[in-house]
Amino acid sequence: MNFHVLTLFPEMIEQGLNTSILGRAMAAGYISLTATNIRDYAAPERKGRVDDYPYGGGAGMVMQPEPIDRAYEAVTASMEKEPRVIYVTPQGKVFNQSMARELAQEENLVFLCGHYEGVDERILDKIVTDHVSIGDYVLTGGELPAMVMIDAISRMVPGVLTNDASGEIESFYDGLLEYPQYTRPVEYDGRRVPDILLSGHHVNVEKWRREQSLIRTRERRPDLIPTATLTEEDQKFLRK
Ligand code: ADE
Repeated sequence: MNFHVLTLFPEMIEQGLNTSILGRAMAAGYISLTATNIRDYAAPERKGRVDDYPYGGGAGMVMQPEPIDRAYEAVTASMEKEPRVIYVTPQGKVFNQSMARELAQEENLVFLCGHYEGVDERILDKIVTDHVSIGDYVLTGGELPAMVMIDAISRMVPGVLTNDASGEIESFYDGLLEYPQYTRPVEYDGRRVPDILLSGHHVNVEKWRREQSLIRTRERRPDLIPTATLTEEDQKFLRK
């Protein structure tokens, strides 16, 4: 999976993502990341400027279409087919785990990060396939949302998580929150690890964990219950 980010702050993307699990995944070749500075594609006479005043007036500046178009052309020139191009915007569909899983199937993904008051609508019409938000709040730019999405998508790419199963049993895998985890010591500050986890009885442990997931989801994110993948037994437990 190859990620390409069109941005005014490429160093933010590169430094932010080239560590820990993703840094290792890049070094091992499971994913790649290029951050392209849109400013490098400014018209020569504009000396690196890529924004201008909005037609119709109003506050703030708008990113012009041509530098973005040239950056996009440079990034996609060697691709066999047109990639999905995600415009990172609070006006988009809200990102979630199933989108991460779906986007992880792509060979190339291009992210366009806006700044200032926005981006000229015509370049969005021309190149963007998906408008995506990370939630109902407004950030100063698209870089952090792009990084959030790239992280979540990367985890779904085979090989990125070394423990292959860990992506499948955690929060949101089947639409539920993950069960609580414990490690040593058995007693900490007067709080004991639940006895069942010390029992060595795997069937009971799995049952307990499932019930904890259900309880936790119902308490903290009841909105997830209607769309979660539940067995007969899960439903019976929730009715109790
Ligand atoms: N740009 C600014 N705020 C954003 C958000 N919440 N999601 C995606 N892109 C954004």
